[in-house]
Amino acid sequence: MKLEKLIQQARACIQRGTGYLSHGNDGTIYAVNEKVILKLHNGGYHGCPQKSAEHEYALGTELYQQRVQVPEYIGLFSAPLRKQECWGVFMERIHGVEPSGLPSTLQLEAQRQYQEQKKQVDRLGYLISKDSKKINSNTLFDQRRRKLFLFDLVQWKRK
Ligand SMILES: Nc1ncnc2c1ncn2[C@@H]1O[C@H](COP(=O)(O)OP(=O)(O)OP(=O)(O)O)[C@@H](O)[C@H]1O
Ligand SMILES: [Mg+2]
Repeated sequence: MKLEKLIQQARACIQRGTGYLSHGNDGTIYAVNEKVILKLHNGGYHGCPQKSAEHEYALGTELYQQRVQVPEYIGLFSAPLRKQECWGVFMERIHGVEPSGLPSTLQLEAQRQYQEQKKQVDRLGYLISKDSKKINSNTLFDQRRRKLFLFDLVQWKRK
C-alpha cells in the first residue's frame, strides 16, 4: 500500500480512537490494519519525536536488509494530529506472543533464535539496547512462522 494511503488510514484510526494496541516509554502503538502497525514516537530518548522516528526507521531498514529478524520497516509517518505535527514509523505487524507464553519446546527454539540474532547484530556492528538484553522484552514469537522478531530499536546504536 502507498505511504500516503497508510498515513490517511492511520490518521483516521487515531482520530476515531480505534486501533490502539499498546504504549511504552518511547511511543504509542496503533494497529493500522492486519498487516501494519504505526509507532508514534514521543521523542524522550532522542530529544524530539522526529529524531526518534528517523533513528528507528534508519536502523530498522538497515537491519532488515541485512536479514536480521526485525519487522519490515515500511516508512516514516509525519502528519498533524490534533493540530500538532507528529512523527512515527510504520512497520510490519507481528502476530506473535511473548516467548514466556510459549510451550517449552518452542521456548527453546525462541531462545536459540534470540542468541543467534544477538550474535549477528553484534557482528554487523550494532549495540542492542539495555531493554532488549533479555528475551522476554521487545520480542514476539510468531508460531505460524516459527520465528522470533526483535523490535523497538529507538535505543539501539551503531558501534
Ligand atoms: N511490529 C509490531 N507488531 C506487533 N506488535 C508490536 C509491534 N511493535 C510493537 N508492538 C507492541 O507494542 C508494544 C510496545 O512497543 P515498543 O516496545 O516498540 O514501544 P516502546 O514505547 O519502546 O515500549 P517500552 O518502553 O515498553 O519498551 C510491544 O511490547 C508490542 O506488544
Ligand atoms: Mg519496548
